[in-house]
Amino acid sequence: MAPHDSSRRWTVLYLALVAAGLAAGAAQKRRPNVVILVADDLGIGDLGCYGNTTIKTPNIDRLSEEGVRLTHHLAAASMCTPSRAALLTGRYPARYGLVGEEGTAPVVVHVASRVGLPVEEVTFAKALSAANYTTAAVGEPRAGWVVVWVEFICLACSVALCKWHLGMRCGLGGLGCSGPQDHGFQNFFGLPFTLAVELEGDHDFWIFTPEVRFNKIIARLCVVGVLTILVWGWLVKCSQETQNTLFVVLALALVIPWFVHTHYRFHTEKWWQVSPWMDQHLNGILMKNSKVVEQPLVLEGLSQRLVEYSLDFITDHAHDENPFLLYHSFAHVHTPMFTAPHMAGKSKHGR
Ligand SMILES: *[C@@H]1O[C@H](CO)[C@@H](O)[C@H](O)[C@H]1NC(C)=O
Ligand SMILES: *[C@@H]1O[C@H](CO)[C@@H](O)[C@H](O)[C@H]1NC(C)=O
Repeated sequence: MAPHDSSRRWTVLYLALVAAGLAAGAAQKRRPNVVILVADDLGIGDLGCYGNTTIKTPNIDRLSEEGVRLTHHLAAASMCTPSRAALLTGRYPARYGLVGEEGTAPVVVHVASRVGLPVEEVTFAKALSAANYTTAAVGEPRAGWVVVWVEFICLACSVALCKWHLGMRCGLGGLGCSGPQDHGFQNFFGLPFTLAVELEGDHDFWIFTPEVRFNKIIARLCVVGVLTILVWGWLVKCSQETQNTLFVVLALALVIPWFVHTHYRFHTEKWWQVSPWMDQHLNGILMKNSKVVEQPLVLEGLSQRLVEYSLDFITDHAHDENPFLLYHSFAHVHTPMFTAPHMAGKSKHGR
């Protein structure tokens, strides 16, 4: 979900709210387990139980047959972040600041986003946690969890380190951040942000487009700098060591502006936009609780890994004394589209 892409419709379809006593026989008095499945961008017409004949959704159809199929639902917002926040809290997003300029919806797309669901809000996960439920959020909950007040420069450091440990960053400068675990989910496995087309494929780190004016200047400065050091070195007969130091200083003085300009895209209209490479390395994150376990995210098999986690969670807690809440938010059907090998070529509608 990208805020710059207003032509697209963002449909969050609340697939199924299944309150079922999975361990029915075990204890009559045990309160029901709650499983919520959410699919962003899944259209109502994409499901068999709503009349689609070319997309096979037998399991969802069965849920609808054995339960309730709703035909009229109004979301509190059209964009994912505020609409999910509303789903979690049962309150209008505007009541807790999830409203942008001119009434637009703020959408959390990157690690430095300052938007987020305030920790004071009561989510259903918090309420159920307080009632002794074991809770988990899996997939792409994206309600602006990660409120990270981090400067971009810190992010550059984290990229260099290749693993961005949220818990570590959060304390910096007394600035806090919050994740699903601050919103009532005791367990979390998933993407703190969103799937975006930039997360797919290979993106070059080394982009130097000579046509860009900024790069032309850098190239000229480079030539002038090298010549100056050589000529000056020859004139004052400075040591090779001094000359090498000067070359290193020159390289840094040129590479840093190039990096900032190229990857933070200060030449684009949108200040928050970063290069595809940066997006992939900064925002393509898979986390387990508060630890980053993949960065950049590996798309292949992502859906399966998320589902496996949820299945394990259910298996682990099906016979507990306390009931559980599982909130599984699929990364699919949001773009980019990618296919598990065993499903490749199976759909009439392509990926
Ligand atoms: C089923 O869904 C696909 C993909 O959205 C769509 O192209 C097709 O028209 C749908 N079929 C019906 C009968 O609604
Ligand atoms: C939750 O557990 C505590 C401690 O075991 C207990 O005192 C409390 O009554 C429980 N709450 C509910 C809603 O079951």
